[in-house]
Amino acid sequence: MPPSRRGSGTVALPTGQTLAFHTRTSEAEDLPHATKKTMADHLRKYESLFTLTPQRMRIIVEAFKETLEIGLAKHNQIVPMIPTYVFGWPTGQERGNYLALDLGGTNLRVCLVTLEGEGKFEITQSKYRLSEEQKQDDGQKLFDFCAECMKSFIDSNISGGIIEKDSILPLGFTFSYPCSQDRIDHGELIRWTKGFGAPNTEGHDVVAMFRKSLEKYQVPAEIVALTCDTTGTLIASHYVNPKTRIACIFGTGCNAAYMERVGDIPKIAGLGIDPDAEMAINCEWGAFDSFEHENLPRTKYDQTIDEQSNKPGEQAFEKLISGRYLGEILRLIICELIDEGVLFLGQNTYKLEIPYSFDTAFLSLMESDPTDELLMIIGIFTHFFAVETTLAERQFFRALAKLVGRRAARLSACGIAAIVSKMGYLEEGCAVGADGSLYKKYPGFADRVHEGLQDIFGEKGKNIVTCHAEDGSGIGAAIIAAMTKERKLANLYPNV
Ligand code: BGC
Repeated sequence: MPPSRRGSGTVALPTGQTLAFHTRTSEAEDLPHATKKTMADHLRKYESLFTLTPQRMRIIVEAFKETLEIGLAKHNQIVPMIPTYVFGWPTGQERGNYLALDLGGTNLRVCLVTLEGEGKFEITQSKYRLSEEQKQDDGQKLFDFCAECMKSFIDSNISGGIIEKDSILPLGFTFSYPCSQDRIDHGELIRWTKGFGAPNTEGHDVVAMFRKSLEKYQVPAEIVALTCDTTGTLIASHYVNPKTRIACIFGTGCNAAYMERVGDIPKIAGLGIDPDAEMAINCEWGAFDSFEHENLPRTKYDQTIDEQSNKPGEQAFEKLISGRYLGEILRLIICELIDEGVLFLGQNTYKLEIPYSFDTAFLSLMESDPTDELLMIIGIFTHFFAVETTLAERQFFRALAKLVGRRAARLSACGIAAIVSKMGYLEEGCAVGADGSLYKKYPGFADRVHEGLQDIFGEKGKNIVTCHAEDGSGIGAAIIAAMTKERKLANLYPNV
């Protein structure tokens, strides 16, 4: 009699890999599923990998602080601490019509912002989704696309009577990738992040490239300031809430900005700027721990993401935190359990095996599923991945999402704590303007950041409060354009 092929299990191959097998017959209909106990055992393993103790967090904060100081002291550091040439806070009295173009991680937005003074504004905008091809296509083409979108936006607002014909409007350009700046209307792209890879852009002045495209399409706009979403958020948050001292983005990418005393930015000491003046610093903290990987608790899933990314070694902090990667971390864990024969034996899992197929939005949905049966999670797995799940598995997935989401929030708290502690904001307290899809849409993200701050600082951590800052990259860019125009009119540091 030939040996029965029925049943399921795993075999260790001579290569060291594990092969999972399951044979179904026409009589057996039930799929094998892992027991509740197996799932609980696995969960314990992941808990120990993804949990950050307060002590570990404090160690990370110390290393982070040191990195911030190094970035302020010397040029070309891993965390570049970019001087933005945005001088001080807005008065809240900035007025006028400004255009803003926001090239973020996922969308391109064109806005017309009317600043009305007293912290008030009006905004009209159009959004365009960027395709994966556009992100990898030649850089000048990307800016041509931005200019085309801007042109059609202006034309439609002229015909709608919102923009005056023949006017040339000042433009704030929000370009949310690290650019080294030596004045406000100039910025050399240091490196693409968030999966972008458009050639012929790194090392180039993105303002000059965009200007070329604006000329090509005869767009009546004049770039006054180049900014980043975090700097925009810092300024826009302060415009409505003067207690703001720091701003963060937790979206496709992650980053922070804050206001620094010029005298405490040694690397620009030679520019002759009053040391007591203040300037916004775009930290680009997503790069923290890049290349050396000495400070952050990376799991093998994080390492895989890094190795398989278009920028291995780079954006180490961002890869543990931002919306672009959290779904992928969970997917890699699920795939490991599929390979080990723990999950989905006998089911076709090819959809789950596609890189980046598990959107971070699924983690949000899984965590917020209000039903006892976890019906939302059933829906995600059947609809998007064509696999069946048991309640025990769904509870496990939800617990995993929580671990990954919580780690991201607690690491984010470490970054905020580093700036708070460096600047001495803890006693007095401050507001942290925050924006981005993760912050806005991930259930409990803000609460977990606050909990993390208390784990680091104790009770006093409660003095640091994040607040949702509406649309820093649109409104902030407009306010920065307005501040820059006023500064140049007043002949204050006109060359930067
Ligand atoms: C970019 C930053 C940006 C952040 C949030 C990062 O990948 O390098 O410039 O602020 O994403 O959008």
